[in-house]
Amino acid sequence: MREDFLLLNPGPVPVTREVREAMSEPMVSHRSAAFEAVYERAQTHLDYVFEHSTPDGASTSAGGTSLILNGTATMGMEAAVANLTDRHSEVVSVVNGKFGRRFARIADRHGDATQVAFDWGESVDLDAVADAVTDETEVVTMVHNETSTGVLNPVEAVGEIAAEHDARYVVDGVTSIGGDEFRIDDWHVDVAVTDGQKALAAPPGVSALYVADDAKPHVDGEKAPFYEDLDWHLRKADSHQTPFTSAVPLFRGLAEATADIHEEGMPDRIARHRRQSEAFREAFWAMGLESFPDLNEHAEFSNTLTAIRLPEGARGDDAPAFFDAVEARGVSISGGQAHLGGDIFRVSNMGGLSSEQILRGIRTIGEAFREVGVDADTEAALDAARECLR
Ligand SMILES: Cc1ncc(COP(=O)(O)O)c(C=O)c1O
Repeated sequence: MREDFLLLNPGPVPVTREVREAMSEPMVSHRSAAFEAVYERAQTHLDYVFEHSTPDGASTSAGGTSLILNGTATMGMEAAVANLTDRHSEVVSVVNGKFGRRFARIADRHGDATQVAFDWGESVDLDAVADAVTDETEVVTMVHNETSTGVLNPVEAVGEIAAEHDARYVVDGVTSIGGDEFRIDDWHVDVAVTDGQKALAAPPGVSALYVADDAKPHVDGEKAPFYEDLDWHLRKADSHQTPFTSAVPLFRGLAEATADIHEEGMPDRIARHRRQSEAFREAFWAMGLESFPDLNEHAEFSNTLTAIRLPEGARGDDAPAFFDAVEARGVSISGGQAHLGGDIFRVSNMGGLSSEQILRGIRTIGEAFREVGVDADTEAALDAARECLR
């Protein structure tokens, strides 16, 4: 692989040399004091991320526990739902993209799920959510930052609806937590889920959950798959261990990555992500391209990834040549998922990217468009981005 390879996919994202080195340290037992110190370090920094993801660093939660699971965010999503439901529990899942749909499918497997569904890329209509959630609803699931479409969903407003009906609120903050604002108590979040490999800039393979103290009495681990019994995970977390063998190198990578976040500080990190995503958007607009999300007054553009419609000459059957031209320049970006393949491209600014890397991504995409015959003004795009990154 080339030395200057630049990973701009919305996960996994680049990890630092220190994270890579932490993962290659000699193995220890997951029951040793050395491992407990790793888990405790990761928990301390995860507590910081979950509890201080605000533009001014103010606390977001009166109390809760950060857990780390061996398994990616999908396991975290399932653990959250399965511990709060049984087969008869009414669950309302808000769906406007691939990951909202995944939550709905998980909810359907563990409870009695109703979807409030919108086309992928559309914004959530709060009236439709308010109509679907009733006093019988036990759990509401929601994706904060819909990675498949680049829409930042109104987690707070849906949280208010859930709270009015005393439903538990499970939120996927997989591509927002660690890169954008995320409030636990103000948004009525009971369980928040995130992934190692996204805005935390850790390796893939582990996920993190935050279980708010108020939600703990509702957790019933006996209802969940054995491996995801959150009562058990919560008990073991008190002594900085997991019920089963921990993925030691991944926990070490996560501890290192979250320590870096703590050092940068969430206010600066949120501001940087907002600048960088704005730079991507402004650059692509300056190239004459269109954003994919269809925003209403409650939705926003994602601050951690950007989804753009592919222009004539690079869409449909012409899309592979464009993506190949990007890849040939040592940069990796993503296309659309499922039926959006050939319609859009997506770039991430999650993790610790520098302004130079953002500009390189823009330059590469502009050059790749020109190579396939799309008339994109790369210099105008770079000027627009530089304005935002100042
Ligand atoms: C918003 C969101 N939720 C959940 C997931 C699932 O993560 P994983 O495939 O790592 O389990 C992803 C992955 O891209 C995601 O972006």
